[in-house]
Amino acid sequence: MLDQAHNLREFVRKSHQAGRVLAVTSGKGGVGKTSTSVNLAIALVAQGKRVTVLDADLGLANVEVLMGLNSFYNLQHVIDGEKTLMQILVKGPGGIEIVPGTSGLAKLADLSSKARQNVLEGLKKLQENADFIVIDTMAGIGQNAVSFAASADEVLLVTTPEPSAIVDAYATIKAIHARRDDAVFRLIVNMVASPEQGLAVANNLSRVAQQYLGLRVSYLGHILRDPHVSQGVMQSCPFMVSFPNAPATKCVHSLGTKLIQQRAQTGAAKAGFFRRFAQTIGLASNG
Ligand SMILES: Nc1ncnc2c1ncn2[C@@H]1O[C@H](COP(=O)(O)OP(=O)(O)OP(=O)(O)O)[C@@H](O)[C@H]1O
Ligand SMILES: [Mg+2]
Repeated sequence: MLDQAHNLREFVRKSHQAGRVLAVTSGKGGVGKTSTSVNLAIALVAQGKRVTVLDADLGLANVEVLMGLNSFYNLQHVIDGEKTLMQILVKGPGGIEIVPGTSGLAKLADLSSKARQNVLEGLKKLQENADFIVIDTMAGIGQNAVSFAASADEVLLVTTPEPSAIVDAYATIKAIHARRDDAVFRLIVNMVASPEQGLAVANNLSRVAQQYLGLRVSYLGHILRDPHVSQGVMQSCPFMVSFPNAPATKCVHSLGTKLIQQRAQTGAAKAGFFRRFAQTIGLASNG
């Protein structure tokens, strides 16, 4: 009886709750996407959510490096059909789970149809087993970054207050918007000296996006510039774990809280990530 009740609950939960897919992206490189992805994921876990971070950034300072992990299997094994995506998941600090990336993901469009199907099936499973999937994408308007971002339920756009980063952030909004006009953007201003500085950047960007693209870019919040962030990187341990009381940690906790509160507003997105991503990479969805 107990088992039956449990199975039924699981079935109901799965059919109603596919995880929210958040693509963390930026125009300029080095603005803190990877650091934000990992630490925000940890903040969401701290609030009782199941969170998986998917490493779609193929640079050197990727998610695994940031956490001192070095896993044997990665997405390449999924692409090649040797492992399922669930089999390559690794446990990271702070209760998050990680999908180790591969440079083979760089040319999604060039993958064989079988390989794309392998990745898609994995992503579908992943979405059923997590409340949030945080995708750490590459910077810029490259095809792959835009594919993930335009497919995601929400785009978390990271910028710093630097003028060049803001200009590039705008170009990224424009590129993603051109691919998908109902994309949902949430801005995170990182490395700010004060909350006021973050707000000023957000006001500027939202005004320009509204004026030229007729687009609403909502402000999720800021992360203070804080030396604990790079100390965490040097210790291969995310600052949310090593420095629970650091200024940046408090900022990221409040970003997590806000994201969870915004659930109601994003109900409309209806977890369409899987279908959109399948279309984007040229495979019709079978589910
Ligand atoms: N709030 C912050 N305060 C201080 N330093 C920060 C902050 N956020 C990020 N950094 C530092 O900035 C550097 C770049 O961060 P990160 O690697 O997360 O950026 P990225 O956008 O992922 O870069 P890439 O485009 O290369 O993938 C790191 O050394 C990190 O420690
Ligand atoms: Mg990165």
